[in-house]
Amino acid sequence: MTKYVAAIDQGTTSTRCMIFSHAGEVVAVDQKEHEQIFPRAGWVEHDPEEVWRNTREVTAGALAKADVNASDIAAVGITNQRETAVVWDKTTGKPVYNAIVWQDTRTDRIVTQLGDLGGGQERYRSKTGLPLATYFSGPKVRWILDNVDGARQKAEAGDLLFGNMDTWLIWNMTGGVDGGIHITDPTNASRTMLMDLDTLQWDEEIAGEMGIPMSMLPEIRSSSEEYGKVREKGSLAGVPIAGILGDQQAATFGQACLSPGEAKNTYGTGNFVLLNTGTEKVMSENGLLTTVCYKIGDNAPVYALEGSIAVTGSLVQWIRDNLGMITAAPEIEEHARTVEDNGGCYFVPAFSGLFAPYWRSDARGAIVGLTRFVNKGHLARAVLEATAFQSREVIDAMNADSGVPLTALKVDGGMVVNELLMQFQADILGVPVIRPVVAETTALGAAYAAGLAVGYWEGEDDIRNNWAKDKEWTPNMDEAARDKTFAQWKKAVTRTFDWVE
Ligand code: G3P
Repeated sequence: MTKYVAAIDQGTTSTRCMIFSHAGEVVAVDQKEHEQIFPRAGWVEHDPEEVWRNTREVTAGALAKADVNASDIAAVGITNQRETAVVWDKTTGKPVYNAIVWQDTRTDRIVTQLGDLGGGQERYRSKTGLPLATYFSGPKVRWILDNVDGARQKAEAGDLLFGNMDTWLIWNMTGGVDGGIHITDPTNASRTMLMDLDTLQWDEEIAGEMGIPMSMLPEIRSSSEEYGKVREKGSLAGVPIAGILGDQQAATFGQACLSPGEAKNTYGTGNFVLLNTGTEKVMSENGLLTTVCYKIGDNAPVYALEGSIAVTGSLVQWIRDNLGMITAAPEIEEHARTVEDNGGCYFVPAFSGLFAPYWRSDARGAIVGLTRFVNKGHLARAVLEATAFQSREVIDAMNADSGVPLTALKVDGGMVVNELLMQFQADILGVPVIRPVVAETTALGAAYAAGLAVGYWEGEDDIRNNWAKDKEWTPNMDEAARDKTFAQWKKAVTRTFDWVE
């Protein structure tokens, strides 16, 4: 048997390649950050060519660290930041514009105009499971076609292709202009606002309303099957590409949330809580998204309810990069530990408006409750608490939608090393928070999808058996204190509304 499976995790701030063993253990990892481009307030872009270069570098780097070569790798899975839109010319292989990132709010007007056709924010909800919001890819593609010189004509002539980062990378990995395959999976497609959640196919009517030619859209395959082999000359040449999952769905899979009722919360650039609802598609009445969780080969699709929070870990980065209050992310916990509580200070990081459960693109960030008493430690606490409060809000919405309150929360992602945050999360939720041994569940989930397709792993039982608990935090805050601070948070949130006309 080949020894390992590789996963490429193309995230918002960095790209990494990880090599996993059959036991689901991390054998090697290599990672590289890419530039965050902010041309104007509210705009966020990435350079797709830089991302593709970094992908090749980290893949070579991870294989070198593991001291293996392509023949030791059974398959590679791809997972990616979702919604981020790339449009490129298939004849030259060049992007016509930078990738417009999921956090970008420039499509505000397009989104309002679409809602004005009738139905407002709910216009596409029944087909796509999504509220009309700047978050999703479709309106971003429309913006590129409307604003880049010559793009619409080229698109109509069939020369332009669209994809999220999974599609862009796989097209390049499988040959690019020399026959690259143009595909995606239902988890990524379900974030474009162009896919019908029942048929798992593109919806021509929505694409028509958004002015997006069907010829630009990738073929939707399953999340786990052999799509093709890596063709570009490089470290993975010849290895089957056999898994594609949006990063949050990959984390859900890697956390072994494989039965209805199981949920995870990933603490990354943003936070994303996903609840597996099985083969049943649950429509939210409380501001959550309905999305595809995964589709393994020919099996029926599994759906999820999702609470998406735009800014959590990126708030810590902002404190580091824009304010210079810390020099490295872990220092935020040190500052927070210098005080008992937040000193009355609340930080609502509505930098991209507010996502779930509010969906307010008119909101902007606010720090409230300031007095001369408030110091650096209180602010650091408010920064960490913002992640926990926002998570509580989407979990409350999830409990209301599902009617079955969550009894424990599995967590993963970069911020789960922060013990103060994890304890506060348990306190504010009133349920235990559980961290697995492998907290890199995003890459692991993509590796599982790929490994299942080529028979490296046999079935979902392997995933369940590989999952192991590392640490559990139990709630330790009395109910009155919890209710009081959460009520203050909710009041603080209302202060961010109506900021953008
Ligand atoms: O929907 C956006 C999400 O996929 C981004 O995830 O981990 O790159 O912040 P992450």
